[in-house]
Amino acid sequence: MKKQFGFSTKAIHVGQEPDPSTGAIVVPIFATSTYVQEELGKHKGYEYARVSNPTRTRLEQNLAALEGGTSAHVFSSGMAAVTAVTQCFLKQGDHLICGHNVYGGVPRLFNEVLANYGVEFSYVDTSDLAAVKKAMRRNTRILWVETPTNPLMVLTDIAEVAKIAHAGGAELAVDNTFMSPYLQSPIALGADMVMHSTTKFLNGHSDGLGGVIVGTKPHHSEKLAFMQKAAGAILSPFECWLVLRGVKSLAVRMVKHDENGRAVADFLRNHRKVKKVLYPGFTDHPQYELARRQMKGFGSMITFETGSLNNAKKMLRKVRVCSLGESLGGVETLISHPATMTHAALGEKGRKQIGLTDGMVRISVGIEDAADLIADLDQALAAI
Ligand SMILES: Cc1ncc(COP(=O)(O)O)c(C=O)c1O
Repeated sequence: MKKQFGFSTKAIHVGQEPDPSTGAIVVPIFATSTYVQEELGKHKGYEYARVSNPTRTRLEQNLAALEGGTSAHVFSSGMAAVTAVTQCFLKQGDHLICGHNVYGGVPRLFNEVLANYGVEFSYVDTSDLAAVKKAMRRNTRILWVETPTNPLMVLTDIAEVAKIAHAGGAELAVDNTFMSPYLQSPIALGADMVMHSTTKFLNGHSDGLGGVIVGTKPHHSEKLAFMQKAAGAILSPFECWLVLRGVKSLAVRMVKHDENGRAVADFLRNHRKVKKVLYPGFTDHPQYELARRQMKGFGSMITFETGSLNNAKKMLRKVRVCSLGESLGGVETLISHPATMTHAALGEKGRKQIGLTDGMVRISVGIEDAADLIADLDQALAAI
């Protein structure tokens, strides 16, 4: 699909061409474990489903186009995708710099699994460019950044950290899950790889797990394809199909998520029971200018301070339209308590270090009617 086509045209048509054998407008789910070969060494490009599957190929073509990369490889979850990056591009004695406030499962994997294999990790505030520069070592291979961060909504300047990584001979990998390719394009800003938990906005309907690594260099494609075959944590054809279905409406969903996010953030900021709202769309957010430069919108992830664990508990018990649960990026609004849910593994000390309090509540604003969400939050906050 030509480069000049717009985002939605690509989302709906790249990899989503009609099925050549039947004309079906929707990519079929190829539920097969193997492929019949005509004779020894003669086949149609598919040999065994762990190695490749036509539904998966189509999704990988689509996601590579949406992120502006040259390849994409999908895995059974976001964490399986992160694991694949480490398996492909790190070996004993290598060093990775990770943002100090990323999705909690990422440092859990690094510290509790990979550190046992002699890989070194440093955690830095990647919004602080001097700190990133200082953390670079001769053996640094990857700089792992999530922007905005979860749940504190701190941004990292992708173009600047890409320069630092490249100057030190390392590659920049950006977890773009929070923004989706519609609102942020890390590769255009200099990132080498982009990761998504497709579980979130790309799928968009909270009905499947998945992860993707979009690459920009031949060695990304070669190694990640090899790792799909070697380790086998691939995405099933059905879940590939769910994501192919989901991305068709990504642009319109993100516009609505963004619009609702602004309305809910404004409401929360003006509510007398809410002490503070973390949202990059406020003109007084310390990185508002960077947010405007780097992102096409502000997204729908908002964190607000209720003042105490007890207050958070009281309000979360009362929500009716918003659903209390982990995850984000679905059409339905999800509300969660980072200190006891997504970031429990950080421990009290770790949470304190990054400024994550017990009173914080995170909301992934869905695409319901904003007025209903606001009314629901208003009645829930009355419980405080
Ligand atoms: C920003 C981010 N990255 C990665 C992950 C991990 O993805 P998964 O749950 O699909 O393994 C998550 C999960 O919540 C996430 O929020």
